[in-house]
Amino acid sequence: MSLIENIIRADVRALSAYHVQDAAGFIKLDAMENPYTLPPALQQKLGERLGQVALNRYPVPSYAALKSAICARLGVPAGFDIVLGNGSDELIAIVSVACAKAGAKVLAPLPGFVMYAISAQLAGMEFIGVPLQADFRLDLPAMLSAIRTHRPAITYLAYPNNPTGTLFDADAMVAILREVGDTGVVIVDEAYQPFADASFMPQLAAFPNLVVMRTVSKLGLAGIRLGYMAAAPELLAQFDKVRPPYNINVLTQATAEFALEHSAVLDEQAAAICAERSRLALALAAMPGVEVFPSSANFILIRITTAGLSGTTVFERLLAQKVLIKNVGKMHALLENCLRITVSTPAENALLEAALQSSLKP
Ligand SMILES: Cc1ncc(COP(=O)(O)O)c(C=O)c1O
Repeated sequence: MSLIENIIRADVRALSAYHVQDAAGFIKLDAMENPYTLPPALQQKLGERLGQVALNRYPVPSYAALKSAICARLGVPAGFDIVLGNGSDELIAIVSVACAKAGAKVLAPLPGFVMYAISAQLAGMEFIGVPLQADFRLDLPAMLSAIRTHRPAITYLAYPNNPTGTLFDADAMVAILREVGDTGVVIVDEAYQPFADASFMPQLAAFPNLVVMRTVSKLGLAGIRLGYMAAAPELLAQFDKVRPPYNINVLTQATAEFALEHSAVLDEQAAAICAERSRLALALAAMPGVEVFPSSANFILIRITTAGLSGTTVFERLLAQKVLIKNVGKMHALLENCLRITVSTPAENALLEAALQSSLKP
């Protein structure tokens, strides 16, 4: 046996690394990033602020100032605290490790965010995927029945969902929270909340098993890697024990505090993206052979419906025109010939529209 076989778990050896496409020189519409930067005057001020950060010191591990700024400005209800993560990816890993009792399972609708299943597997938990309906709404009877059968320790509901953009029915989510009861936590992942008119934050007091997870990534700060989750204090205290003590670096902390002081700028950018989403959705729906799914996020899922033309062919034709979107057609049977397009600036969206239009011939 080789060194690798001797020491690395068989399931880890069988995994392929999380692939991120090199986007240099492309119009980048694959990763749900906010296309806008901070205005130059704020960039200048941020530079001055970051120049004063004590790089020689460890972060103060309570992160009290940043946490109270997030709670005050991002709608965390009074009496609820948050745990911070290096992106919500780290929060997903933290909850997975904390809940990985022998035999514990993780459940989520599919197609969904891939890290739920990957984190479950890395923590040694079985992942149960429950297919959505063909129009990407929750299949509530199937969800409730799978919860009764498997009694998952963690159930994820992305609200809105990635990669479909769907905002699940809130009553169905409440029924799931009730069915899970005190046998598991339900993580409502609100990564795309800045683009949706709905949130489960106000429900925290009603459901002791509810965890609301968010990130600043889609809001315009993907590079600083910062996520947060709110839940009942007893639950958060347990998750916090799994968190590496200095997981948020001082530059992220200072940048996030600065951005929150100027959150109106980020809110305006999110509003501009929502307006472009409506316009772009109409433009795409007018193209022959393109089905557009309703989106409450900063991306739009489409399906190529022309006979003899695959989503992959359209994806490759766009790549040839230096437009990078996400080909999700192979992710799940329900996503056949589907492509996910991040909503960008009017100028980039116009280039995407022109490139797509010219890529639709069978
Ligand atoms: C539903 C969902 N949750 C979480 C994340 C991860 O966000 P972060 O950048 O905070 O790790 C993503 C990223 O695409 C996502 O789609």
